[in-house]
Amino acid sequence: MRINIAIDGPSAAGKSTIAKELAKILNYVHLDTGAMYRSTALKALQCGIALDDEAAVCEMLKNTEITMTPDGKIFLDGKDVSTDIRTDEVSMAASNVSKLEKVRADLVARQQEMAKAKGFIMDGRDIGTVVLKDAEVKIYMTASAYARAERRYKQNIENGIPTSDIETIAEEIRQRDYQDMHREHSPLRKADDAIEIDTSDMTIAEVTEAIYGYVEPFLQKEE
Ligand code: DC
Repeated sequence: MRINIAIDGPSAAGKSTIAKELAKILNYVHLDTGAMYRSTALKALQCGIALDDEAAVCEMLKNTEITMTPDGKIFLDGKDVSTDIRTDEVSMAASNVSKLEKVRADLVARQQEMAKAKGFIMDGRDIGTVVLKDAEVKIYMTASAYARAERRYKQNIENGIPTSDIETIAEEIRQRDYQDMHREHSPLRKADDAIEIDTSDMTIAEVTEAIYGYVEPFLQKEE
């Protein structure tokens, strides 16, 4: 049977990298929900909309199209913003707009609509707790703050994204995690039925294999 897989966890824990790998193996669709919050934040910044102005950001979203291609590119109103949404400024701005209840409601509705078809691997902060409460497999992925900062630093360099040093990234990650875990609406937390995996000392292949082990029994089952 085709299932949905939820992957949540703090920033730079490796969620998207693993979700991409799994999607390839299973021939599933990977939906990076963080990219939707990032695209929303980028457009608000470009339009000069204050990141705490809930009504204005929601109004903006009514005329906003966010799409993802199977090879992982993000399009905002038809423009490829895959690199633009990865800057430190947009990371923090995304965390700020993600506090807004009505913004979340808009993006969550889009995510749930897409996942109806099954065969989705979604990564984010509230997938197991809100978006896909009935996902067959839920993973909560963590890693030490230093391991995460180091990975993000390497990723930035590889992708040609302007980057701060590891210590600064680690501090930003700590700040964003705190904000994401302590906000009022849908804070980041492990769903009661999620499996926790600490990836600090694991390779991409090891994490992918571990999750595949939880998914495999469902693949054999009848619809
Ligand atoms: O996963 P990411 O770092 O690209 O996400 C950017 C921000 O968006 C993150 O700081 C919190 C927010 N976010 C969220 O609130 N809910 C999600 N499902 C995904 C991301």
